[in-house]
Amino acid sequence: MSEKLQFTEDVIGDLKASGLYNDIKVIGSAQGAWIEIEGSKVLNMCSNNYLGLANDPRLRQAAKDAIDTFGVGPAAVRSIAGTTVLHESLDKQVARFKRVEAALTLQSGFMANVAVIPALVGKGDTIVSDELNHASIIDGSRLSRAEIKPYKHADLASLEEVLRDVEGGRILVITDGVFSMDGDIAPLPQIVDIAKRYGAMTMVDDAHGEGVLGDNGRGIVDHFHLHGQVDVEVGTFSKAIGTIGGFAAGSASLISYLKQKARPFLFSSALTPADVASTAKAIDILTASGDLVTRLWDNAGYFKQGMRQLGFNIGISQTPITPVMLGDVQLATQFSRLLFQKGIFATKIGFPTVPEGKARIRVMISATHSREDLDFALAQFALVGRDLAVIS
Ligand SMILES: Cc1ncc(COP(=O)(O)O)c(C=O)c1O
Repeated sequence: MSEKLQFTEDVIGDLKASGLYNDIKVIGSAQGAWIEIEGSKVLNMCSNNYLGLANDPRLRQAAKDAIDTFGVGPAAVRSIAGTTVLHESLDKQVARFKRVEAALTLQSGFMANVAVIPALVGKGDTIVSDELNHASIIDGSRLSRAEIKPYKHADLASLEEVLRDVEGGRILVITDGVFSMDGDIAPLPQIVDIAKRYGAMTMVDDAHGEGVLGDNGRGIVDHFHLHGQVDVEVGTFSKAIGTIGGFAAGSASLISYLKQKARPFLFSSALTPADVASTAKAIDILTASGDLVTRLWDNAGYFKQGMRQLGFNIGISQTPITPVMLGDVQLATQFSRLLFQKGIFATKIGFPTVPEGKARIRVMISATHSREDLDFALAQFALVGRDLAVIS
């Protein structure tokens, strides 16, 4: 290794010493309630596969059919070398599902934020952003070169105070819909009202709301009946939808504009046919039935109640995201390690993903978990919690 790269070793050493090193597990099976890691079968309690669609046979078949007809690669940036009927059809299907005029699919949720934010605001403009917004919102905002003004998490008085001080230029208020580390829901109706009063555009990133909130999982805008009132919805297919990709949704003119101006759309290749076809199948399934969403919420209610009864602090979540608050990162690391030994895969989350001193195990409940799975998980959490004196 060259001396110039010595800093990489130093940083890794520091991360290991402070318990913040991210030890990435290697999975040897398809996604599901139970997965194989390092030769053992473990209960998966940390994936974003909310509805179990990531390995649904109907999505697998749709992907295979698309490969047989359209091949494996997009071979193109959509705006330069044409776009397939599959991609065009998914854009329209997403718009219908989200009950908006138009939508544009992009390569991921991260890319969607990087695409949308710099297209809407730039130098001389202001982004007013919840302090706990996702990293991709932060990075998209930085790329825009607009001034970034954070407001206190979900705090309407703080939002208004920040907006009052903005002088000139376009203003974009951005919030996560469901905050991914705490599971709380943004007070979107009030945010929209306040933003309107200050002439600001509103944008919500619904990554953890899709497939979870609203009618058949249509997301946070549907949940609050705010159709037509939020200027841009950004989302991802990589969580409840079970595939990969992101999108922006809103008015027809917004989407036409993004097709001309959003750089990841203009300069990066499209999703593959298999991604697009399996995503379309997932949205078909959700459109036809809300059963999976109901099962997800039933499971979440059951597990959360069990954890509260055991005496765990599970934070302020209003959704299936269940943070088990531990505080100290070393404790969270040890908790996760002991759970793994008992057949539960639930990773610790530490700084910088959550603030320092707020380490946790983030449990992600899925519709694929059976009652026996959840009872097994509760029993193992109880054992480890008592071992480590987190509960009595
Ligand atoms: C709020 C939010 N936005 C965007 C993303 C990124 O989505 P993707 O995995 O599709 O890039 C995530 C995923 O962690 C997220 O939680």
